[in-house]
Amino acid sequence: TRLFFTFYILFFFFFLSAFLTERSAGVCEQLFCFPICLQGYPDSCTVGQPKVARAMPSFHLFCGSTFEHLQISEEQFNVYEAMWYVCGMSGFQLLPNLMFLFFVFQKKAWHTIKTMVNLPVISPFKKRYSWVQLAGHTGSFKAADSGKILKRFSENEKECFERLMKDPLRSCVPCFHGVVERDGESYIQLDDLLTDFEGPCVMDCKMGIRTYLEEELTKAREKPKLRKDMYKKMIEVDPLAPTAEENAQHAVTKPRYMQWRETISSSANLGFRIEGIKKADGTCNTNFKTTKTQEQVLQVFVEFIEGNTTILKKYLRRLQEIHIILESSDFFKRHEVVGSSLLFVHDGSGNANVWLIDFGKTTLLPDGQTLDHRIPWQEGNREDGYLLGLDNLIGILESITER
Ligand SMILES: Nc1ncnc2c1ncn2[C@@H]1O[C@H](COP(=O)(O)OP(=O)(O)O)[C@@H](O)[C@H]1O
Ligand SMILES: [Mg+2]
Repeated sequence: TRLFFTFYILFFFFFLSAFLTERSAGVCEQLFCFPICLQGYPDSCTVGQPKVARAMPSFHLFCGSTFEHLQISEEQFNVYEAMWYVCGMSGFQLLPNLMFLFFVFQKKAWHTIKTMVNLPVISPFKKRYSWVQLAGHTGSFKAADSGKILKRFSENEKECFERLMKDPLRSCVPCFHGVVERDGESYIQLDDLLTDFEGPCVMDCKMGIRTYLEEELTKAREKPKLRKDMYKKMIEVDPLAPTAEENAQHAVTKPRYMQWRETISSSANLGFRIEGIKKADGTCNTNFKTTKTQEQVLQVFVEFIEGNTTILKKYLRRLQEIHIILESSDFFKRHEVVGSSLLFVHDGSGNANVWLIDFGKTTLLPDGQTLDHRIPWQEGNREDGYLLGLDNLIGILESITER
């Protein structure tokens, strides 16, 4: 009986230890949002300029972070690490894990811990949200581990995210967690920006005065590919839009369609347009193709925030912050940012934030060339009007606050 009892106790501690290891990894990730990368994605371990980039073996994770981020002192971390090696060798990891949690928890209020620790007794009652894709290509997203999403791989977008992770803009984009394979296909793994919201309201605003690349324009001129689907979409909105030639062909080229979309929406005049909105009740609206004037856009925003001034102010502050960061960003100076969006997310609790997403078409300029992002586009100058759009967006939100 005594032997059985000893085994029982050992087993109990073994599982408790494994459980805490799991939990503490989750706690770290959610609590500090520092770049944690799972083994197997070494790429993402190079992100940022971490002051600390040490293996945390018990988490089976690498953490690239500063101690300020970790909110534990270097000494505490050293003690933890030493303890882990000593205790870990004997397979007894509980003690260092408990100690780590103690170091971490003493800094945090209980209510934060309660939600972060996500104990199994609590989690069944935790409200789940459903992820939503508001715009873009259908079928390019896949569910991933909790808190992450997978977007169909594009070499260009992957490279952009790699550069972004080393840029001040890092704080304005979803964290990039490397490339993963699923069912024989490659995906880039990104933070799910909706995770921290309860019943999020989401808006996708496509930025810039231009939504196609100069390169696409040249290609279409050299080898025009006629698109019947785009012609159909065009006449659905405006039967008078196609030229006589387009009517005869029952088709349009892609840049022609994109340019037309820019002029019927606010892209051409305001430098951004609303692509879609998801409300708290789950309903989605992507019918903003002809939302064009400042007043129309303003009205959509007013409805989106439902008169909540706290949310409005948070959005405004964040946009102003993004503006400052963009001006200091080397990435931004050296890229033509086309087809990228600002994703607005808020919920009933007053939580609100904005991020830059979608770098599928963002292109690195030749060495030495930079963009102003405000001056008008002329073929060859590659200007995208991103800052023009951001200025207008900020102006519109400001005018709502003044109402
Ligand atoms: N990191 C993210 N977190 C949450 N939602 C996202 C994220 N990235 C994209 N989405 C959702 O998916 C939509 C399309 O994403 P996007 O990157 O623009 O794809 P595409 O390249 O197909 O246009 C966005 O409008 C948004 O609703
Ligand atoms: Mg998009």
